[in-house]
Amino acid sequence: MPFSAVGSSSRRSLFRNAVRAASTWTAMSALLKAASASATPNNEDFWRLVKKQFPLEDGLLYFNAANICPASRGVLDKHAEYLRDFEANPSFQNRAKYTALRTRLRGKLADLLHAKPSEITLTRNTSESNNLIVHGLDFQPGDEVLITAHNHPSNESSWKVRASREKFVVKTLPVPVPGASKDAIVEQFKKAITPRTRVISVSHVTNTAGLQFPAKELAALAHSNGNIWFHLDGAQSFGALRVDLAGIGCDSYSSSTHKWAMGPLEAGILYIRSERQAQVWPSVVSAGWSDSLTGADRLEVFGQRDDPRLVALEPAVDFLNLIGMDQVEARLRYLTKSLNEKMRALPGVTVRTNLESELSGGVVKVVAGNGSPGAQNKRLWDSKRIAIAATESGDASGLRFSPHIYNTMDEIDEAVRAVKSVLA
Ligand SMILES: Cc1ncc(COP(=O)(O)O)c(C=O)c1O
Repeated sequence: MPFSAVGSSSRRSLFRNAVRAASTWTAMSALLKAASASATPNNEDFWRLVKKQFPLEDGLLYFNAANICPASRGVLDKHAEYLRDFEANPSFQNRAKYTALRTRLRGKLADLLHAKPSEITLTRNTSESNNLIVHGLDFQPGDEVLITAHNHPSNESSWKVRASREKFVVKTLPVPVPGASKDAIVEQFKKAITPRTRVISVSHVTNTAGLQFPAKELAALAHSNGNIWFHLDGAQSFGALRVDLAGIGCDSYSSSTHKWAMGPLEAGILYIRSERQAQVWPSVVSAGWSDSLTGADRLEVFGQRDDPRLVALEPAVDFLNLIGMDQVEARLRYLTKSLNEKMRALPGVTVRTNLESELSGGVVKVVAGNGSPGAQNKRLWDSKRIAIAATESGDASGLRFSPHIYNTMDEIDEAVRAVKSVLA
């Protein structure tokens, strides 16, 4: 009988018994697959089963997906298996299999992101992916790059370092939070574009206050103004939200696998739209380079890679597909909306993150009274083992909560109670 066809109390005991019985990853993933039909955003039984796939310590309230997510058991097992195999036999012969494994991985990533396999470069993280764009494009003195005050340093300082060397201009737009509306954001960029603008580069969702930028509209704006390059930093969207790169129409998109995708540490992706690839110079050239390389391969000649780590990314993609990106996003939004609303309802608390789903993602920034966010963060950790991030000053100061699908609604409620207690 499918899980969805049984009553809620018998479903709960079915889940519990099945979870106890399924001790291996294969058994667990079969169970998850069977249960995924009942993966409504509020089915806590299903999401508790998901939580079991992660090696999180008991009692740890982990709300820091925007920084690093734990990898699921499937990822850890695959990484360990391939690392042992690699070290036991590092011969060219044993490593030949990695070419086909990378090709399969690239195909799955492309499907997940609505891209072509030849558009996906496998990098080490978002920082490297952003820098491949920053250093790969041609600029003339006086050209302009438009960024925002909430870009990550890899998409901000990187531009400024290169600009100071080559005499082009980086213009930084302020980011009012919460965001006013999609239209207001697009209008702000429209006004800032000049005939010298060559690149617009923003975070899809900011790591600072969790504002989602209207990526599709900004891509259209960029392209209708002299085909300006539109780069989207997806560190906070890949693995959290459904991402349709072809639909968005951005020229490039970067992300890390150790954040919301719940994959291995120190791996990343860089998407570059086929039509634009020839415009990007490779920044790293090593053994394996050839002038005839095209597509993603041209930017990926990095020297020896950690092949087992890349193989471990495949089960992360499989895991997202097993649950379904629609379900992942729906659960994440269910948790963040609840967190946002419950925090707002506390006296003395304001939330810098929009409630509207078109202007938000998985990050919720909370300002709890007038206390120092650093000190409050310490209290939350010391008293309740709540792992979050804190920003001490500026227009994004506050406590950053970033839950993911391994969090339960009980944990959200515990976090709200804990914030109330730091205010007392
Ligand atoms: C928007 C954004 N871009 C880039 C990065 C850098 O990611 P990584 O350290 O994995 O390169 C981060 C990290 O938090 C981020 O939030």
